[in-house]
Amino acid sequence: MIIVIDGPAGAGKSTTAKEVARRTESDYVDSGAVYRGFTYLFMINDFDKSRLTEALKNHDLHFDFHIDNVRVTHGDKDITQTIRSAEINNRVSEVAAMPEVRDEVRRILREISGDRKRGVVLEGRDLGTVVFPDADYKFFLTAAPEARARRRFDEQTRAGADTSLEQVRENVEKRDRIDSTRDIDPLKKADDAVEIDSTYLTFEEQVARITDFVRSMRTENN
Ligand code: C5P
Repeated sequence: MIIVIDGPAGAGKSTTAKEVARRTESDYVDSGAVYRGFTYLFMINDFDKSRLTEALKNHDLHFDFHIDNVRVTHGDKDITQTIRSAEINNRVSEVAAMPEVRDEVRRILREISGDRKRGVVLEGRDLGTVVFPDADYKFFLTAAPEARARRRFDEQTRAGADTSLEQVRENVEKRDRIDSTRDIDPLKKADDAVEIDSTYLTFEEQVARITDFVRSMRTENN
């Protein structure tokens, strides 16, 4: 069973996807972390596009996804924290707009998900439209821009980041703009995805919308 949850930054995808994975006894995959890993590769190549193309051929990035522990490594180096830095936040959408990066990430995501013995819940931007067009369940999670900026700000300050609400809002808006207007695989709701606006929902309600829907469809199909 493949459940995909797409949507813009700060809509609550990560926390929701993890909880849905727990409740449906599935694995969890954060596709944004994979794009962030490739942004790290770009960063250590001085943000030089011609070098990135070469680096993509033999990259040594590894992604290990567990609900309570996402680990990203480059060779022997643990870059799990680094990929959440302000510098990566600022450049990730640019890297995610490169066709050769998207091809490689799509291949990795399909490989990781194909290997699983259990169901898998994935979160991202283009999973329902491009990576897994035949996913069993597709959700599109949104929230008002102000609510999304506020959530990301709370999340980052809790993690110890030194930032302001204004800075976070600017980054979220910039990423949304690039992600939704890029030529390839833009952030977009799949026609057959269930849209959930989480602006006024509690976390519990948000998760229940998804798990109740999955449960009701499974009962109906049995
Ligand atoms: O989910 P997260 O905020 O970590 O994603 C980081 C960036 O990765 C997004 O802003 C977007 O540019 C890119 N991304 C994407 N397609 C996905 C997942 C993430 O383009 N499926």
